[in-house]
Amino acid sequence: MIGKVYVTLRILLCAICLLLILNVFLNYFGEKTDIPSAFSRSNLRKQPYKSNVTGFNSINEILPIPSFAGANAANASESLEQENKNITEVTLPACQEPVYEESSPFVPNITLESLDVVEEQLGPLLESGGAFKPKDCNARHHVAIVVPFRDRYAHLSIFLRNMHPFLMKQNITYRIFIIEQTNGQSFNRAALMNVGFLEAMKLYPWDCFIFHDVDLLPLDNRNLYTCPRQPRHMSVAVDEFNYRLPYRTIFGGVSAMTREHFVLVNGFSNSFFGWGAEDDDMSNRLRSANLFIARYPINIARYIMLKHPKEKANPKRYENLVNGMHKIGTDGLNSIKYEIYSYKSYPTFSWYYAELKITEQKS
Ligand SMILES: *[C@@H]1O[C@H](CO)[C@@H](O)[C@H](O)[C@H]1NC(C)=O
Ligand SMILES: *[C@@H]1O[C@H](CO)[C@@H](O)[C@H](O)[C@H]1NC(C)=O
Ligand SMILES: *[C@@H]1O[C@H](CO)[C@@H](O)[C@H](O)[C@H]1NC(C)=O
Ligand SMILES: *[C@@H]1O[C@H](CO)[C@@H](O)[C@H](O)[C@H]1NC(C)=O
Ligand SMILES: *[C@@H]1O[C@H](CO)[C@@H](O)[C@H](O)[C@H]1NC(C)=O
Repeated sequence: MIGKVYVTLRILLCAICLLLILNVFLNYFGEKTDIPSAFSRSNLRKQPYKSNVTGFNSINEILPIPSFAGANAANASESLEQENKNITEVTLPACQEPVYEESSPFVPNITLESLDVVEEQLGPLLESGGAFKPKDCNARHHVAIVVPFRDRYAHLSIFLRNMHPFLMKQNITYRIFIIEQTNGQSFNRAALMNVGFLEAMKLYPWDCFIFHDVDLLPLDNRNLYTCPRQPRHMSVAVDEFNYRLPYRTIFGGVSAMTREHFVLVNGFSNSFFGWGAEDDDMSNRLRSANLFIARYPINIARYIMLKHPKEKANPKRYENLVNGMHKIGTDGLNSIKYEIYSYKSYPTFSWYYAELKITEQKS
């Protein structure tokens, strides 16, 4: 009798041990390989992807950026363009910025459509990687649209099906960069934007960067996706906030910065994990560099926000914000560490699957 109970107990113990081991096993490999993203199912490579585009390999090669007004920069981008494309296009006239009447509403279609259908409709109008350049004129603005991303596939599809038609009308050269963070750490929107900047610079010396949340869609065609002299906060009037600016120094949602300004303030801080305050830190960085935040009037810079559950705010966001003031020179573009696990040029966007090699400070 006692022997039987003993044997049963041993079997039970064994089973529990096995389950535990299996659990550890699954946890480990689940994180490494198991469907972290719908894209990566087929594309995730075993070896970390090493970018093989000639260009900038480190921030040191980007710094110092010659003044863009100066001849050097103009030559640099010109020669790169000629290398990639044909020389004949240099003879095209310079693009004019589109001029609109008093009011020119843009009406996004927020019906969910599969990415395949979006690709089918827009792919033929674009160059691979979600890139576009005007056919009959030379664009004055070369704009990288950088979108930090995780999980929101429905939003991505709605974003792409609306943003491309919106942007193609603006006579700008642009490309949409989707920077997806791997599973594991909390979402770090700001660090992903730094990654987007560095990766985009490997393809082309963009003169303008627009950092864009995937859930915001513009509502007016006069909202031009270009970089003015000062950094521009673009999502001024969002339906979610009753089309009012929540506070004056806000710089989140959608914002535009020239390459020079972004490098000047050392990009975004990498310290903000979870939701909150990384954009306010950027706002502080701009102020310390004597830059001002420009905005379109409230009737132009209108956006709708796609619905989603609210993110958990990081309880340390204010602390980080205060500390951030002392870290501008050491925390940002020059300190980010990451690896691109996978990259793919889809017809309507360039996708980077990035693992951040920085960890959250848990003090
Ligand atoms: C990288 O590019 C060079 C020249 O363009 C080529 O010779 C080389 O094979 C490429 N390497 C990989 C890993 O694709
Ligand atoms: C750069 O541009 C300036 C003026 O536009 C020109 O004089 C100079 O020769 C160019 N340099 C090169 C290397 O093309
Ligand atoms: C540029 O266009 C000409 C004719 O328009 C063509 O012969 C030439 O191969 C093209 N060059 C490149 C690099 O595409
Ligand atoms: C620029 O955009 C406007 C409006 O979208 C368009 O009418 C015009 O033909 C475009 N091309 C040039 C060269 O300005
Ligand atoms: C929005 O897109 C759906 C299909 O995705 C289409 O059936 C519908 O007509 C569109 N709405 C408008 C106003 O164009």
